[in-house]
Amino acid sequence: MTDPLDAVLAYHQRTKHHLHRYATGPGGLDWASQPDPFRQFAGSPPLELPLLADGAHPRYVDLYRPGWIAPQALTLTTIAALLELAFGISAWKRYGDSRWALRCNPSSGNLHPTEAYVVVAGIADIDDGVRHYVSRDHRLEQRCRFDSAPGERLLPPDSFLVGITSIHWREAWKYGERAYRYCQHDAGHAIATVRYAAATLGWRARLLSSVSDADISALLGLDRDADFDAAEREHPDALLLVTAREPAAADGAFEVDACVRAARNSQWQGQANPLSPRHGHDWPVIDEVALACTKPRTQEIIWQAPTLPEPLGNDCGQSAIEIIKQRRSAQAFDGATSISAHKFYRMLDMTLPRPATPPWDAIGWEPRVHLALFVHRVESLAPGLYLFLRNGHVETALRAELPAEFEWQRVQDCPAHLRLYRLAAGDARAAARTLSCHQDIAADGAFSLGMLAEYEASLTHGPWIYRQLFWETGVLGQVLYLEAEAAGVRGTGIGCYFDDAVHELLGLKDRAFQSLYHFTTGGALTDSRLQTLPAYAHLKRS
Ligand SMILES: Cc1cc2nc3c(=O)[nH]c(=O)nc-3n(C[C@H](O)[C@H](O)[C@H](O)COP(=O)(O)O)c2cc1C
Repeated sequence: MTDPLDAVLAYHQRTKHHLHRYATGPGGLDWASQPDPFRQFAGSPPLELPLLADGAHPRYVDLYRPGWIAPQALTLTTIAALLELAFGISAWKRYGDSRWALRCNPSSGNLHPTEAYVVVAGIADIDDGVRHYVSRDHRLEQRCRFDSAPGERLLPPDSFLVGITSIHWREAWKYGERAYRYCQHDAGHAIATVRYAAATLGWRARLLSSVSDADISALLGLDRDADFDAAEREHPDALLLVTAREPAAADGAFEVDACVRAARNSQWQGQANPLSPRHGHDWPVIDEVALACTKPRTQEIIWQAPTLPEPLGNDCGQSAIEIIKQRRSAQAFDGATSISAHKFYRMLDMTLPRPATPPWDAIGWEPRVHLALFVHRVESLAPGLYLFLRNGHVETALRAELPAEFEWQRVQDCPAHLRLYRLAAGDARAAARTLSCHQDIAADGAFSLGMLAEYEASLTHGPWIYRQLFWETGVLGQVLYLEAEAAGVRGTGIGCYFDDAVHELLGLKDRAFQSLYHFTTGGALTDSRLQTLPAYAHLKRS
C-alpha cells in the first residue's frame, strides 16, 4: 500500500495544469450525465424554513467589530437565516432556455459539491437530531431524530453544529482528476460563509479541528451504505460549532462523542437521490487521494491570533446581508477600473486573523498561505509583482528560496503591520493572464494573485493537512469576494492556473511552497444577455 503522504504528493503533482498539457479530465462534457446540483433524501420528513425578513440588519463593516452585534436567540428562524446566508440561493440566472441557481457560497464551475447539515439538540422549536439542507427549497430534511437519554447534554448551551460534506463526482464530472482540489476550495469557501453568516446574527462559529472523518461520517449518516445505494457518496469535510453567545471556556473542551453515540443509536430516514444516471468516467485517483487524506482524531488546534491594529477603514454603508447576497464572480473585467491604495491595503488587512473576528477565528490555525500579487491598477502603486506575507516567520524561508534579483522593497505608505513587498516592477498583465490558463480575468482587473502555501512543511503534520491548506485558500477567496463587493468592485476565484509555470516565474525550485488557488479583482463587466431572477420567488413563503 502506498504511503498516504506519498499518495497526496503524487496526486498534487499529477493534477497540475501545464502550459503544454492540462491535468487529465473527461475531454468534453457528457451532458446526459450532468449531476443534479441538489441532493435530496426521499422519505426524510421536510421542515420548511422561513426566509430572511426585511428590516434593519447589521452593516458589513460591523461584522469585524468583536462584540458589536448583539447575539440573536437560537431559534428555527435564526438557524434558517444562517443557512440562507451560508448556503442559500442568491439569484437565478437565465439565458435562453437555460436557468441556473447562484448561491451565497461560490463554487468552481458552479457545480456545488458541498452539502450542508445541521445537528441540533435542546432548541425549543426543532427536534433534536440531524438534518440535511436543501438550498433550492430552503428546507431541512430530517435524517435522524435523536433518541438520547432525557437530560443528556449533547451540545454546549445555545449552540448547534453545521456539517459540511463533498460529493466529489459533481466536480469530477467536468474537471476530472483535478476535481478533488476544487472540492476542497469550495469547502473552504463554505467554512467562511458559515462564519460570516453567524457573524450577521452576532454568533460565533469554529471548526472542530480534533474530530475525525469517521466521527463526521457517523454523525451525519454518511457511512450508512443502504441510504446511498446507487447514489453518489458524500465525503466528510468539516464540523463547525456555532455558538449564539460569547464562547465560554468549557466550549473549548467540547467533544462530539455524545452526538455521535446518539446518531448511532437513533432511527434514520431517507434515501439519497442519484445525481447522474450514469458516470461516463471513473476517477480512481480521487478516491485514492481522499483515502490518503483521511483525518484521524487529533488534538484540537489552539493558536491565538495576535492583536493587530484596528482593521483599516472601509466606507461601505451596505448591510452584511446585502454584501453576502450580491456577491458574484465577475466573468469579465473592464481593463480600466483602478482601486485606491487604501482599498487594496484594506483587502490585504482583512486576510489577517484577529482575535474573535470573522472569518479567521473559524479556523484555529496560524496562516500558512501567502499572496503573490500581480498588481495592475492600484493607484500610487507601481504595477508589478508583489508579495504579501501573512505570518512573520516565513520571510526567512522565502528570501532563501526566491531569486536574488527580487527587490524585496517594503511598500512605502503601507501600514506597518502589512508585510507587503515589491519583488519586481513592470507590467504583469501578460504573465498573469498566461499563468491563469490564459484567462483575461487575471489581467483585466486591478490585481490578481496566486496563493502560495507553505506546502511541504505543513504536510509533515499529516496528509490530511493537504485539505486544510486548500480550505485556507477558500477562506481567503471568500474574504476577497466580500471585500471586493464592499470596495465597489468584484472578484473571481481562479482554480485554473499552470502550477509549475507560476512557481518558475517566482523562482521556486522545490516543493517547499506551492500555489494552490488564484483570485482576481477589478471593475466587472456585466453580460446583458443574462437575465437575473429572484432567489426564492418559486417558494411563495415568507
Ligand atoms: C474554487 C473556485 C475556482 C474557480 N475558478 C474559476 C476560473 O478558473 N475561472 C472563472 O472564470 N471562474 C472561476 N470560478 C468562479 C465560478 O465559476 C463561480 O463561483 C460560479 O460560477 C458561481 O458563480 P458565483 O460565484 O457568481 O456565485 C471559480 C470559483 C471557485 C469557488
